[in-house]
Amino acid sequence: MTLYWEWDDSLNIGVDVIDRQHQRIVDYMNQLHRAHVAGQREKIEEVLCGLLDYTETHFAFEEDLMQQAGYPISAAHQQVHKSFIKRIHSLYRQHQQGDDVAARLLSDLRIWLTNHIRNDDQDYRPFVSKYMKRQSGGWLSRTLGRFFS
Ligand SMILES: [Fe+2]
Repeated sequence: MTLYWEWDDSLNIGVDVIDRQHQRIVDYMNQLHRAHVAGQREKIEEVLCGLLDYTETHFAFEEDLMQQAGYPISAAHQQVHKSFIKRIHSLYRQHQQGDDVAARLLSDLRIWLTNHIRNDDQDYRPFVSKYMKRQSGGWLSRTLGRFFS
């Protein structure tokens, strides 16, 4: 089966830990697409929950990282995450009411994430890269551990 969205390296911002998380979101989207095409309602529900949960955790991790790095407009970036979460929650509610939202969610997320990565995430990269270079070995796994368990 063809992938809904194949990751291409032009989407990497150059911060490994973030790029891997973005790729994981794309993996979830491909799983959702597969379940949707196959008409597996239970699987759609399961993947949808995983996707929303992972996306929110990724946002929280990224926000923490931006703040630690002293990125000057992290509050504005956080606001952008917040309004997108609102949008995907409303789609999820429609799904719970029996609507078939997978196609809309996938296309919204793809467009949104592409723009967000290329503009907003790319913008904090210099701050975060510089900050991360100054940290010692265990810092990253400790920080990850606070968000992803
Ligand atoms: Fe972001």
